[in-house]
Amino acid sequence: MAVPKEAVWDRDPHTAAKHDLLKRYLEAWAPILLSRKDVITYAEGFAGAGIYKQGEPGSPVIAYDVFAGALHRYPKRMRVILMEEDPRRVRELEHQMALARSRHTDHIAKRLTVDIQEGDFHPALLEKLRSVGALGQPLFVLLDSFGGPDIPYSLLHELGHQRGTEVMVTFGPTFLTRFAKKDEGYRQRGDEAFGNQEWQTVFQQPSSHKFTFLREQYRGTLRQAGFTHTLYFEMVDEGGRLLYLLFGTQHELGLEKMKDAMWKVDPSYGVRYRDPRDAKQQMLELELEPNTAPLRRILRDFVSEAPDGRTVLELQRYALLETVYRPTQVIKVVRQLRDSGVVTTGPGAITNKTRVTMATAAPEPSPSAEQEALW
Ligand SMILES: C[S@@+](CC[C@H](N)C(=O)[O-])C[C@H]1O[C@@H](n2cnc3c(N)ncnc32)[C@H](O)[C@@H]1O
Repeated sequence: MAVPKEAVWDRDPHTAAKHDLLKRYLEAWAPILLSRKDVITYAEGFAGAGIYKQGEPGSPVIAYDVFAGALHRYPKRMRVILMEEDPRRVRELEHQMALARSRHTDHIAKRLTVDIQEGDFHPALLEKLRSVGALGQPLFVLLDSFGGPDIPYSLLHELGHQRGTEVMVTFGPTFLTRFAKKDEGYRQRGDEAFGNQEWQTVFQQPSSHKFTFLREQYRGTLRQAGFTHTLYFEMVDEGGRLLYLLFGTQHELGLEKMKDAMWKVDPSYGVRYRDPRDAKQQMLELELEPNTAPLRRILRDFVSEAPDGRTVLELQRYALLETVYRPTQVIKVVRQLRDSGVVTTGPGAITNKTRVTMATAAPEPSPSAEQEALW
């Protein structure tokens, strides 16, 4: 999708997938934090107009509705801070947020404050977050530009060194791989976004690896900024243009909840969404079963490294921290490994406490190359 010039533009299917992911994650995030803290904050640096051409809600409205729902259950407070550069979009956003507010009772709206600011997100967003005392408290920051890269590393570093902060950043690798080699301006933007020049070794990578190389570099940037756990979600538009959503958190529970959301949006692989070129193609590509062949191999290797085997709980934690998979997918995979004679477990149902050991002369599973490359 070309960068839209109109104040309100058509929503692409991958934007709908992104909204689905965001909504599902915030539906988990808000109640968890509201049950523990009196006030939590949600911020966007690139808020948009709050609405799309056919009337679909934008991310700020989606977030507002989720939070209003959560505040029905918790007598707490939330702040929503929104930045947008385009004055036309700011006017529309103000209107849409007022409509969202009117859909909920006064009682809720009083505890859910919305602050909309016009202008460049940086450094204004950081200053705002600091001035209201949101830093160091539970905070989710969505930095959803058209892909840039436009987020300075210095901002990620400020956010990543606060304990309660999580980020979701939209990152488009295309301009860097296409233009940065010859264009000093693009190289500088890359250096600012990555926080160093290591990413420039992308120019020596084979074409087929350039995007994944930059994606992994950017995950490294988020880790360097202080987000110990990172996830990516890949979106491809109709024209084949690639955008990554990168998520960073310091909390294992956040990691788990984001994975849950990602596997709901992509039930087969948990990491991607492609705009359908046509409906027939989409039907052909539809796989509703999660593709857990790589997890079988990964868990088998992990079990084989421990002479006394591993408990299911250990395998679940390993899946959470070291793979794209969810802890909840582990028991089914252990059962498959046991049924095919690769591992043994004690008799009876497999639970978190079950110890899993290698069977003698275990057969080799063989996942496809594509599945292997996912994590
Ligand atoms: C991808 S859209 C955001 C969409 C929105 N998050 C949603 O999902 O509904 C990016 C927005 O960022 C705004 N923008 C671009 N550069 C900006 C900047 N430097 N500071 C603040 N907003 C900016 C654009 O005007 C545009 O509305």
